[in-house]
Amino acid sequence: MKVFAINSSPRSEGQSKTVLMLSHLVRGMRSAGAEVEIVDLRRKKINYCIGCYTCWTKTPGKCIHKDDMTDELFDKWVSSDLAVYAMPLYHYTVNAAMKTFIERTLPVAEPFLIEKGGKSTHPLRFEKPPDAVILSVCGFPEMVHFNELSLWAKRLFGDRLKAEIYRPGVELLPNAGVKRKEILQATERAGSELVSTGSVSDDTMRSVTQDIVDVDLFRELGNIMWQTCIDEGVTPKEFSEKKLIPRPDSLETFLAIMSIVFNPEAAKDADAVLQFDFSGELEGSCQMKVSGGKLTTCVGIQDEATLVITSPFDTWMDIMSGKADPQQMFMEKKCQADGDYQLLIRLNDWFAR
Ligand SMILES: Cc1cc2nc3c(=O)[nH]c(=O)nc-3n(C[C@H](O)[C@H](O)[C@H](O)COP(=O)(O)O)c2cc1C
Repeated sequence: MKVFAINSSPRSEGQSKTVLMLSHLVRGMRSAGAEVEIVDLRRKKINYCIGCYTCWTKTPGKCIHKDDMTDELFDKWVSSDLAVYAMPLYHYTVNAAMKTFIERTLPVAEPFLIEKGGKSTHPLRFEKPPDAVILSVCGFPEMVHFNELSLWAKRLFGDRLKAEIYRPGVELLPNAGVKRKEILQATERAGSELVSTGSVSDDTMRSVTQDIVDVDLFRELGNIMWQTCIDEGVTPKEFSEKKLIPRPDSLETFLAIMSIVFNPEAAKDADAVLQFDFSGELEGSCQMKVSGGKLTTCVGIQDEATLVITSPFDTWMDIMSGKADPQQMFMEKKCQADGDYQLLIRLNDWFAR
């Protein structure tokens, strides 16, 4: 099977979540024997369709433009068995780069009007244009945001649409710990199923679209992330590059963030109760119980702690975000630890920054 995967995210690899998802889908496709070529539209020059219909009249099947679409992409697209349209959702639908690409596939059709399924359409000039898979990611956490894109994809591709793979709340995915692993593995499985069976199973799709955290918490985390960007004067890209962390505004959000970045694999042999006694900007105690690779949390004190960390909240946030050196903070007694000190070193493994 020849697959042509078109990525329309304007973001570079490393930041683009479309690329993150697409790379796993493609890995699955290749493992099932498909020959896959990926094209990044942001590196290509594709002019807008100018609606001249030269491709339907004077030079049937050939566009009037001279650019990467006519030189390279149209032929690769039309001769593939399957095209993957991978895009970020912009304003509830296809982003402009992908739409520009798709509009330029007009030479695939002939101008005549025919009836199909009770509606008018155009006959196709090429015997078999590629089947289609839509892969899209979006910022909001609910699946409903893909409704209009899905409607459009079904209308445009009809029977040729083999799968729609949607990942909402995707900006949280890179930091989603175990869920990240499950979602990306399922995306890879989706790729291999598409090649071996021609569709994606319901089980796999459920794993791909599973919630990362509940919607209220998602909004809360999103808001503190954006507020941190505004306060620090950084874009989301700079936020990740500088390895900043969202500054929680309550013990509940602090614990929620810790639950998201918890690494059960690294903590599978651990049995400990960590207690934080915070002062300053955010005051109070909370506990995290790490046992058999599971994390449970509570605001307040429930169990006898193995390690108690006493710190101004601000200082601890600076340590977590890498702004402050933990050793120095403990030496200067800005933070204190009581109990099993060895655990301090292990915190780095148990919780990704
Ligand atoms: C111009 C613009 C419009 C967007 N519109 C939506 C939208 O309608 N719904 C949504 O959930 N996210 C929206 N987003 C968020 C993106 O879908 C989200 O950030 C996605 O991760 C981007 O994918 P990428 O990292 O591959 O570029 C929008 C982002 C931008 C920049």
